[in-house]
Amino acid sequence: MKTPNLIFCAAFALVVSSLADAADSTLAATPPMGWNSWNHFACKVTAADVRAAADAIASNGMKDAGYTYVNIDDCWQGTRDEQGRIQPNAKFGDMKALVDYVHSKGLKIGIYSSPGLKTCAKYEGSYGHEEQDAQQYANWGFDYLKYDWCSAEKVYQHSQLPEVYRKMHDALVKTGKPIVFSLCQYGYELVWRWGTSVGGNLWRTTEDINDHYDRMSVIGFDQDGLEPFAGPGHWNDPDMLEVGNGGMNHDEYLTHMSLWALLAAPLLAGNDLSTMSPETLDILTNKEVVAVDQDAKGIQGHRISQEGPLEVWAKPLADGGIAVGLFNRGESKNSVTVNFKDMGVKRSARVRDLWSHKDLGSFSANYTAEVPRHGAILLKVQ
Ligand code: GLA
Repeated sequence: MKTPNLIFCAAFALVVSSLADAADSTLAATPPMGWNSWNHFACKVTAADVRAAADAIASNGMKDAGYTYVNIDDCWQGTRDEQGRIQPNAKFGDMKALVDYVHSKGLKIGIYSSPGLKTCAKYEGSYGHEEQDAQQYANWGFDYLKYDWCSAEKVYQHSQLPEVYRKMHDALVKTGKPIVFSLCQYGYELVWRWGTSVGGNLWRTTEDINDHYDRMSVIGFDQDGLEPFAGPGHWNDPDMLEVGNGGMNHDEYLTHMSLWALLAAPLLAGNDLSTMSPETLDILTNKEVVAVDQDAKGIQGHRISQEGPLEVWAKPLADGGIAVGLFNRGESKNSVTVNFKDMGVKRSARVRDLWSHKDLGSFSANYTAEVPRHGAILLKVQ
């Protein structure tokens, strides 16, 4: 009876190791970076827009800066064929060809569905077809799935959220293809507490962002306290970037990008990459700022002091340095001070401005800077 036991043990070990792999920290070891179609294109997105985004990332410096995933959001779905296999709609045509095209640029590609009967935009969801859909995505070659709750509300209770997400995770694992699993359910049921256990690599912590300072800043500055739940392979997701979409001014977009970097948030650009200004590209590709987000230690930053609308946030880095954001949420210019002792630094320290790539010198107990209305300064203190 030795042989069957051995076979059983080997099969069991394989299942356990592939389950472990799916939540493995090598998948999304740092917060996923890339682009997503929703914030700019919404339901108007076509395969041509996705190709144009891939072309832009591969040629404009974004790929070098770390942007990798080209993610199709809602509205790509057509109907199911006689076997129940989901097909793209006419705006997407040949999905395999699109996936191959994005891969040919050295990039990865993501897709979107819902555990409900319908997606948020009322396209076909995965309810009752979870394994079939996961297999279809794997067959096409997708590397990332955003799974958006929405109308699942009509068929499940909130208490079922973990099992519903686990079901799709298991279906993804069964395909044998590593696929980043993005939970989109707006933070319901304190998802950060159980997201990892159902195989999530990232989970939305809030309802949707939009391209206005008020909304972006409420979401971003509200993330304080969630830092224990983020780390390599599992990230809090305060939603995608709006940088370059036109609803905020330059200082406000610097706040957006600085805060998302300090939060170790996924950096998914949400603008039209084929027409963006050099100023927008500079914000998205500032390597010293992106390095804060992508730091190998994967620690999410938090607020270390606040005085009315003036806030200081800090994120410890792998090399012993600390990234520090000085933020002014007020309506006029103001000076903001970081006291080194608030970060446990009891000596003088060197300060570097990451947006302008300038060493500012050595300071003994604190550093103060003028910060414009709704603006930010991002420093490295070492
Ligand atoms: C929800 C999500 C958005 C986007 C839309 C698509 O609102 O939160 O990010 O995916 O659905 O319909």
